[in-house]
Amino acid sequence: MTLPIGVLVSGRGTNLQALLDACAGGALDAKIVYVASNRDGVPALIRADRAGVRHAAFTVDKYGTRAAAHGAMADTLASARARLVVLAGFDHILAPIFFVKLSGVPVINIHPALLPFFGGKGMHGDKVHAAVLKAKAKESGVTVHRVHPDTVDMGEVIVQRRVPVHDGDDVPTLSARVLAVEHEAIVEAIRRFLPSQATVS
Ligand code: GRF
Repeated sequence: MTLPIGVLVSGRGTNLQALLDACAGGALDAKIVYVASNRDGVPALIRADRAGVRHAAFTVDKYGTRAAAHGAMADTLASARARLVVLAGFDHILAPIFFVKLSGVPVINIHPALLPFFGGKGMHGDKVHAAVLKAKAKESGVTVHRVHPDTVDMGEVIVQRRVPVHDGDDVPTLSARVLAVEHEAIVEAIRRFLPSQATVS
């Protein structure tokens, strides 16, 4: 049975694109049923539109509070019958109401480093790569992990992929190397949730 997925985005949407391509090409027996953003007009929403996937922005400006925006997002994902939620470059911490409304639906996140290192509140996007370089780490990578209420980057690891950090790397070169493996790791992680795999609840 094809897995219906909801995807949450905030910006560029290359991970979303990797998922759209994997579903369309048959590499993943899943269907993206809804794309929700916390920002208006971001490229990720344009990607959803082009792929013919229902989508909307749930902004704090529109809903008044983060909890109201996240609650509305959860209601919409539930109506779309999403059975897995993927945070693909989503930069808000989800309000607890989101998990209450989607009780029983697993939520997973892509983090562009090797958790438990270089994670936590405020560590997203280029800040992560800058911290890895500052620490002179020899390797970085990607972690796809479960998301639970009131924790940031602490859920069970589903897939981890490593990449080397080279002498002379800067944020753009390191982030590009990590991004390439993100696109593979997120597809691999979602495969673990396919009904035919049934090892992850
Ligand atoms: C990725 O590095 C992701 O891991 C991080 O934000 C970035 C989003 O990239 N959380 P994109 O929007 O999928 O292109």
